[in-house]
Amino acid sequence: MEASRKVSPGIVIGLVLLIIVGVTFVAVFVVASEPAPPAPTADGPDVEAGVAALLTNADAERGAELVVANQCVNCHIYAAGMAAPGWNGLADRAAERQPPLSAAAYLYESITDPTAYVVEGYAPSMPANFKDVLTPQEIGDIIAHLLTLRSSG
Ligand code: HEC
Repeated sequence: MEASRKVSPGIVIGLVLLIIVGVTFVAVFVVASEPAPPAPTADGPDVEAGVAALLTNADAERGAELVVANQCVNCHIYAAGMAAPGWNGLADRAAERQPPLSAAAYLYESITDPTAYVVEGYAPSMPANFKDVLTPQEIGDIIAHLLTLRSSG
């Protein structure tokens, strides 16, 4: 009786190995078939967290190229703005514009929804379509660039 219920250790080890291989296979398959996570945007209830996520991989040098390629600097001259606010020291000003919005979140808002806050003395003439023209990562790169523009140089 006893003996007939004993399972040979070889079979047990074989089964365990099979389960391990099977679980590994399923896990790899699930990970591989998961669609790439969408690039984060900073819309929604937590703008700060969204912008922080955008900035984790942001490339400020690429941002500096993007503001030229997208003609931001046609209006925003770094030194002194006429058509648009100048960008010298923007990183410092941005932190003060709309407390408690951080500088990064304010810049995100300024680019994606320019009329949410209109800088005093300027017409709300900034194009409102950059949200559609730029990818979230490009906006992150631009914000990273703008955050380097401190008054102290
Ligand atoms: C057609 C001219 C024009 C273009 C092009 C333009 N802007 Fe603006 N921008 C403005 C004007 C005018 C304001 C001030 C009014 C306002 O706040 O909306 C402004 C405001 C801003 C502000 C807030 C500045 C501050 O001092 O608080 C930021 C940041 C900004 N723009 C970023 C950008 C970026 C980045 C681009 C390119 C992707 C861009 N702008 C392209 C005209 C422009």
